[in-house]
Amino acid sequence: MPRKISFLNYKGGVGKTSLIVNTAACLAQRGKRVLLFDFDTQSNASIWLMRLDRWNKLNADGSGALYSIFEPGRARVKDLIVRDVLESKTGEKLLPGLDLVPTTFNLVDLESEYRNDDGRPAYLLFQEQLAEVEDDYDFILFDCPPNILRASQCGVFGSHEIFVPANPDALSLIGFTLLVEKLHKFQALSAGFREASMGPAAQVKGIVMNAIKTGTDIEVPRMRMQLRLNQFKSARRVAPTARIFDAQVRDAMVVRRAVALGLPVNLVAQDAQAGDTDNVLGDYRRVADELIQFSDTPHTLQPATR
Ligand SMILES: Nc1ncnc2c1ncn2[C@@H]1O[C@H](COP(=O)(O)OP(=O)(O)O)[C@@H](O)[C@H]1O
Ligand SMILES: [Mg+2]
Repeated sequence: MPRKISFLNYKGGVGKTSLIVNTAACLAQRGKRVLLFDFDTQSNASIWLMRLDRWNKLNADGSGALYSIFEPGRARVKDLIVRDVLESKTGEKLLPGLDLVPTTFNLVDLESEYRNDDGRPAYLLFQEQLAEVEDDYDFILFDCPPNILRASQCGVFGSHEIFVPANPDALSLIGFTLLVEKLHKFQALSAGFREASMGPAAQVKGIVMNAIKTGTDIEVPRMRMQLRLNQFKSARRVAPTARIFDAQVRDAMVVRRAVALGLPVNLVAQDAQAGDTDNVLGDYRRVADELIQFSDTPHTLQPATR
């Protein structure tokens, strides 16, 4: 059974996409088999990993993107996987083990035009298809928009764990608070559809601080976040073992440059070659390693019975 993880915060621009893409790439470099789903209609992760020319073709044609599993004559998730998505301009595979199910702008129709024919919610349809491919992976990651509307619900319902990217500011704290409230409501609404074979509902397991500028006093924002986390633990709204990651990601130009280059930070050559780990690539690697170790820490989730 793979680890199934959503990265979510009700605040936009906190670094959900950059954190999930760079962490996924570090996991793949560690030899893990990783599948990333892009559930954000803005398609940032897809455009980044496929580069604009490949993604443009997908967007023009529509089929091959995530929304097609919800359309008449439906595709299946297994047909949408772009294997070893990272390629050079000449088609050479750059990072084996990192697969993507891409999205295009038509995913927005899931929120309005989509009508389920048999009364079942979209996330249930997605869950069934996910089950067909999940045994091929160690990690399945869901990049979500800053809400728990239908697209995000697919990721959340399919996950066992939620990690919350946050910046050291008040808005991230508000976004986290809102997320926990909305998540609680969604879990209550969707509980009736959860079968034993799906495993337990997702819980917030951790917070990852992102885009920390040099010279910022991070202790106060971390402490505020910790206090809020403790309140949610007391109220049983997050996992009893939930914690702020020791690893945190600094603000660095190369993160924005990597997006423009269509590469994760670990493939941007000059940084990847540096033996020095006191840089943003070292930060992403520490986040990936801490994520891997989470599976070894005791938690209350019961193993799935499928
Ligand atoms: N550690 C970082 N250092 C510098 N820029 C960052 C960092 N993390 C994210 N960014 C930039 O911040 C912006 C928002 O990040 P993104 O990952 O798209 O956030 P979200 O998915 O939460 O909306 C992007 O331009 C991204 O390149
Ligand atoms: Mg994003």
